[in-house]
Amino acid sequence: MTENLSGKTNYGNWVSKRLIYVPAVMIVICLALLFVSWYFLIGVVIFAVHLAYFAYAYHKFSPGGDIQTRILDLVLERTDWNGKGRAIDIGCGNGALGIKVAKMYQNARVTGIDYWGANWDYAKEICMKNAEVEGVVDRMEFQKASASSLPFADEYFDLAVSNFVFHEVNDAKDKRDVIKEALRVVRKGGKFVFQDLFLVKNIYGDPDDLIKTIRSWGVENIEFINTSKESFIPKALKLPFMIGSIGIICGTK
Ligand SMILES: C[S@@+](CC[C@H](N)C(=O)[O-])C[C@H]1O[C@@H](n2cnc3c(N)ncnc32)[C@H](O)[C@@H]1O
Repeated sequence: MTENLSGKTNYGNWVSKRLIYVPAVMIVICLALLFVSWYFLIGVVIFAVHLAYFAYAYHKFSPGGDIQTRILDLVLERTDWNGKGRAIDIGCGNGALGIKVAKMYQNARVTGIDYWGANWDYAKEICMKNAEVEGVVDRMEFQKASASSLPFADEYFDLAVSNFVFHEVNDAKDKRDVIKEALRVVRKGGKFVFQDLFLVKNIYGDPDDLIKTIRSWGVENIEFINTSKESFIPKALKLPFMIGSIGIICGTK
């Protein structure tokens, strides 16, 4: 987190506060129902475990815990770009990854797009504030759009990045279509780095098949990296429903 005269950055937390509030409320309800039956003690235990796990994860993903930043750096360090031209961060949240790109490539213009729906506490205004605090606001734009239908011409960008977004895109039945749409806006010879739950087979199928499919779309080179094995990620966060199934797809279009 950076501080300056205009305030602090707020990059949010990948663990929604609802995952903490809901079990807390359920514990109170189950405790009240103990007067009806002792069986509600089972509910208290189940929701307490749930609460403890997500409170731990929330703490680890908060700015002091530093894990969010390091996971975004896994994307950033694979951009392999000369920094000339335009970049897009697809599903930018509060702008964390796009702002990192703008800071790393000081001559680039960076666009962040997001749906900014009710499921998350992210917002365009927070993106703008963060970009201002980080000193890159003059080279950034943020726009409301869906990753399933990007409002840009074919080959408009020189670099596309995205982190933990594609699996969430509800208006695309087949999430591989979201990857295809992201690649559509990258110019031939441009770079792309996407991190998502690429090891979840019922979303993306087998990773080798996924790579073959993307290659068949005419991509020049592409690589899959299993980032879930990174040693800085605590074991407790490597569960499949957390970040135990993440990977990066990157290359040159
Ligand atoms: C786990 S958050 C990741 C945010 C950001 N990329 C980061 O790494 O901090 C998932 C993001 O996907 C966005 N999202 C979900 N569906 C979307 C869609 N159809 N189009 C664009 N963004 C979407 C959400 O609004 C949210 O910001």
